[in-house]
Amino acid sequence: MERRSIVVTRRLPGVPWEELAKRFRTGAAPPGGTMPRGELLDRVAGASGILCTLADRVDDELMDAAGPSLAVVSNYAVGVNNVDVAGATRRGIRVCNTPDVLTDATADLGFALLLAAARKVSDADRFLRAGRWTGWDPWGFLGVPVAGKTLGIVGMGKIGAAVARRSRGFSMRILYHNRHRVPDAVEAELGAAYRDLDTLLSESDFVVLCVPLTGETRGLLSRERIGRMKRTAVLVNIARGEVADEAAVAAALAEGRLFAAGLDVFEKEPLVPRALLSAPSAVLLPHLGSATGEAREAMGRLATENLLAVLDGREPPCAVN
Ligand code: DGY
Repeated sequence: MERRSIVVTRRLPGVPWEELAKRFRTGAAPPGGTMPRGELLDRVAGASGILCTLADRVDDELMDAAGPSLAVVSNYAVGVNNVDVAGATRRGIRVCNTPDVLTDATADLGFALLLAAARKVSDADRFLRAGRWTGWDPWGFLGVPVAGKTLGIVGMGKIGAAVARRSRGFSMRILYHNRHRVPDAVEAELGAAYRDLDTLLSESDFVVLCVPLTGETRGLLSRERIGRMKRTAVLVNIARGEVADEAAVAAALAEGRLFAAGLDVFEKEPLVPRALLSAPSAVLLPHLGSATGEAREAMGRLATENLLAVLDGREPPCAVN
């Protein structure tokens, strides 16, 4: 066994804990849930690598606790908003993530939320289970149509493009907004037209948020911008909770200024505001974007390869710095 130590913050699909524990000093097996912060701070002292999830905050405090031996933070997620990437870069620490392998799973979930919110699937399911269904009702749970409507994708990265491809099966008109316009050939392939954000919001029947959380995208869908959306519109968030003003989304739903919302992510996970919990037109999921067995296994393999590559002096397959 090597003298170097690593910290894996929890058991993860696709991460071969036993193999890692044979090669590196790892301390005790990771706990079932998220490692408590205090324990993580203790365990990282002198570690060369950390394999963590979006529930672990990798900040100055944690990197200080690890000390100068820390060479790599391998995040089991595509988003790295839980990691102070600039701080890691200053310290010469590589930060790695798991793109691509979760693109389809996340886009599928985005579409599931879009359809479920449009057709009141969760609310109707609750109604039936509560024993309140007394017979077919021509007025019950009337939704909004999806086919032929306008889809506005905010963030035309890999996941945004995968959502766009799915929408073609529904003959949707596709608008997108992105920090940079995508190449003409990609616009043509996707059949997507660029709009500034405010125009996209006012023209779209469905708005899907797919941007990474950065300084620029935090609070992007502000109260004022939600006010630009159609009253019949459906909002889907598969990005990060902090991209949209959650209280403003809840207020718009309560006041009928938005038809419905499908939310997979929240500002302060796992806390979900009461105003959303009590909104029948909100479909709420516990951050399931990448939650298929295949995607999670592939994320684990990639996160492990990223970690080992840096520790073995190779270029990791997916680094963000
Ligand atoms: C990610 O990878 O960033 C997802 O949100 C976690 O599944």
